[in-house]
Amino acid sequence: MRMNLEDRLKENPELKGQFDELDTYINEKAKQQGSLINVMHRAQEIFGYLPDDVLDHISTRLSVPRSTVYGVVTFYHFFSRVPKGRHTVSVCLGTACYVRGGSTVYERVMKTLGIKAGETSPDGRFTLDLVRCVGACGLAPVIVIDKDTYGRITPDKVITLLNKYA
Ligand code: FES
Repeated sequence: MRMNLEDRLKENPELKGQFDELDTYINEKAKQQGSLINVMHRAQEIFGYLPDDVLDHISTRLSVPRSTVYGVVTFYHFFSRVPKGRHTVSVCLGTACYVRGGSTVYERVMKTLGIKAGETSPDGRFTLDLVRCVGACGLAPVIVIDKDTYGRITPDKVITLLNKYA
C-alpha cells in the first residue's frame, strides 16, 4: 500500500529538507515559461528519482494537472520513477558506436550486471541506460559512467571499468 507523504516524512526526516529544497527552487522558477521540466529535473537531482508524492507536490505547487506531470515523466526517458543505482552506466548505441561493437559491450554489461536498460542492479550499485550518441563518435564505442566518458571500449575493458566503481 502506498504510504502518504506525512508518514514518509515522519519515517525519514531527511525528506523534509529535500522537499524544502525543492520548494525553494519552485519559488524561484514557478513563473518562468517551461518551468515544469526544469522543476522536474531539479526534483530528480534532489530525490534521485520521481516518486508519486514528489510528482503530486509538483502538480499542486505549479498548478499543473496531475495527468500532465505524469505524462511528462513517462514521455522523457531521462526521468525515472524508480530509485537509481549509485552509478549510472550509459552504453552508447548510436550509429558510430553500434558499428564498432557497442552492442557487444552492451551485452557484456547486461550479462555482468544481470539487468537490462532502464533497470537497477539488485545491490543498488548500477543503473543501466542506453544512449544514442554522446558526441564522442571518434572514440567509438563509448560508454559513460556517471559523468565520465570512456572510449574504445571492449567487452573485456568494460568489466575492468565496472570493477573500479564497485
Ligand atoms: S555514436 Fe556513440 S558517441 Fe556518437
